[in-house]
Amino acid sequence: MSFDYFMYKGVRFSPGSYSEEILNFAENEFQVLDDDVYIVTYPKSGTNWMIEILSLLKKDGDPTWCNDVLIWLRAPWYETREGQSQIKDVLPPRVVTSHLPFHIFAKSFFKSKAKIIYVLRNPRDIIVSLYYFSKIICHYKNPASFDKFFEDFVHGNLLYGSWFDHVKGWMQMKDNSNFFYITYEELQEDCQGSVKKICNFLQKDYDAKLIESVVKHSSFHAMKNNKMSNYSLATEEFIDHSKGSFMRKGLGLLRCIDEKETARSCPAVTLQSHSAF
Ligand code: PPS
Repeated sequence: MSFDYFMYKGVRFSPGSYSEEILNFAENEFQVLDDDVYIVTYPKSGTNWMIEILSLLKKDGDPTWCNDVLIWLRAPWYETREGQSQIKDVLPPRVVTSHLPFHIFAKSFFKSKAKIIYVLRNPRDIIVSLYYFSKIICHYKNPASFDKFFEDFVHGNLLYGSWFDHVKGWMQMKDNSNFFYITYEELQEDCQGSVKKICNFLQKDYDAKLIESVVKHSSFHAMKNNKMSNYSLATEEFIDHSKGSFMRKGLGLLRCIDEKETARSCPAVTLQSHSAF
């Protein structure tokens, strides 16, 4: 399938799931509810992991909902064509997902009491994850080569724009009480502690049993084996299952050191000049 990305407010989007009208609705008309919780990420940062964690918290650690309902229906991407229709069926309190950069996010959020959980991941692993993802997702352009893909990433020429701008934009919110950020690496290093921090942010009571259940049922292994969460049920229009799987490796920098994941062989990314913090 041949198609071109289009630009909306300086950011590239795919016509497969977006149009100017859909993005305009997401930015200017979508109604945020006070009890909404938004998971906001640059792609491949741990979005679905966080959806699973919040799904389990919403059901007090009971995995039945995660085992029965597709992950993208539990927390729709409100800015996409499909998500804007799926979200109509979600009962409050809603968990909503977004890859939008700060400057395009729903204006109504900024007048609401809704909360955002922003998940970051180190860019070297994002590049590798996104490179393989782009080969299997039909709405993404197939990368010509890893080197070209790397260049495009560094210059922000990929879908959803620059990782640097995304992080820098959202980190303007870091001192707001309705904004919480966490890294993929922290989730991996201390998932229990991370889930407790998320509970504190959401003002949700917890005990050891709840935390244990959330950690267990949101693990890479559990999600990979859950057909409602591993994207094996996504249609061929969305994903080419013959080319790879969504739950690819689930490795972060800390684990790469042992596992020799390919991210370590990426050209060094100089972050200093782009520092978001
Ligand atoms: S997307 O398409 O942007 O929504 O992708 P996203 O969910 O943000 O990121 C996908 C990567 O996260 C890994 N993943 C996990 N890692 C650890 N634990 C859990 N539970 C988990 N679930 C998903 C997934 O494998 C992708 O990373 P890579 O490096 O490609 O394996």
